Amino acid sequence: MSQQAKTAALRLLQLRYGIIGESPAIVEAIEQLLQVAPTDLTVLITGETGTGKDVFARAIHGLSPRRKAPFISVNCGAIPETLLESELFGHEKGAFTGAVEQRKGFFEVADGGTIFLDEIGEMPLGTQVKLLRVLESGEFTRLGSTKVITVNVRVIAATNRDLAYEVRQGMFREDLYYRLNAVHLHLPPLRKRPEDIPLLVEYFAAKVAERIGTTYEGIDDDAIFLLQQHNWRGNIRELRNLVETLVTIGHGRRITAEDVRRYLKREEIPEPSRALVLHSAAHAQAQPIDLALVYHTLLQIQAEMSALRGALGALAERIAQWQPMISAQRSEDDVFSRDPDDFRLDEMERRLIVAALKRFNGSRRSAARALGISERTLYRKLHEYNLTEMF
Ligand SMILES: Nc1ncnc2c1ncn2[C@@H]1O[C@H](COP(=O)(O)OP(=O)(O)OP(=O)(O)O)[C@@H](O)[C@H]1O
Ligand SMILES: [Mg+2]
Repeated sequence: MSQQAKTAALRLLQLRYGIIGESPAIVEAIEQLLQVAPTDLTVLITGETGTGKDVFARAIHGLSPRRKAPFISVNCGAIPETLLESELFGHEKGAFTGAVEQRKGFFEVADGGTIFLDEIGEMPLGTQVKLLRVLESGEFTRLGSTKVITVNVRVIAATNRDLAYEVRQGMFREDLYYRLNAVHLHLPPLRKRPEDIPLLVEYFAAKVAERIGTTYEGIDDDAIFLLQQHNWRGNIRELRNLVETLVTIGHGRRITAEDVRRYLKREEIPEPSRALVLHSAAHAQAQPIDLALVYHTLLQIQAEMSALRGALGALAERIAQWQPMISAQRSEDDVFSRDPDDFRLDEMERRLIVAALKRFNGSRRSAARALGISERTLYRKLHEYNLTEMF
């Protein structure tokens, strides 16, 4: 790639996807991204936490001919193992307890687009078999069905695990590993590209300053030097948090080495003693309270709370989906628990009718269909059992 084309590409990735960096390591990854993006190849993105796997996956999709079709991101580690397969491939009504209606899986929803399988190392072996089949033939079946569905979906997978090691441990299928590994994009840890730190600081600082309505006055050279010596286990995410904290607390004023030192010192203290420091700072009058630490901790709590809120929201959605089934089960229990020894056929019939009507919120048509009788017969039986006022 010519120098001019490279500069233009870097600018585009910065503007559109917030991907910053000019170090040889990140430029190599960006060049790979530009090469594979327009193709349909499966890509495996690896890298420590916070190195940009998510942003790279989105950029690959955004720069591909599929950009107008869906990009579906699935965190394989966040979905319970028992649900992952049905989430990915869908299920037919009644495929398992709780499958109250037919549902399309992510692969069907993403048809024509891209599916991003984040934390692929967490995928159960059984699901890996199905994934391999989709990768090889574009085919799969919904749970509870034998009908083969064909889709055209590009797969991007990511992990911060060592998949080769997982293969040796028998936790990841070797054939799937080779299939995914055909195009492997590795994102370097921040500590291996310290020359990008000034650019990243500038970028994050300017953004946060704009957000809080202030001007960023820059950072001292010795502060940058300190940042370049740090280990950055949380990589870019950690750097971004630090810059956002310092710019917010200082209202944009120039960041000094002292500011950075104070923060980095906190980072080196193991988690439990950090809590202790905060605790004693709040109680001991003699100790000045470290606002940077308090603020940083609050930001972390806020981030964790919003992640938790997101997870709870998703859970609530799932429960809402399952609710009709749970309440139907309950109402059936009510009906059947009146006199457990009463097995007369007509009593059984009456109870089944009540249960079916409750299950379908009083819809006679649906209840009749579920009972396998005509609506007219149901109407007659409602009269017979004096149920017309109830339903
Ligand atoms: N090259 C980059 N330039 C600027 N910001 C970046 C870059 N890479 C990542 N970031 C930012 O760093 C943060 C973490 O990135 P991302 O979520 O993509 O990491 P990840 O590798 O997916 O992490 P995890 O393994 O924890 O999921 C995000 O805020 C992202 O915008
Ligand atoms: Mg990620």
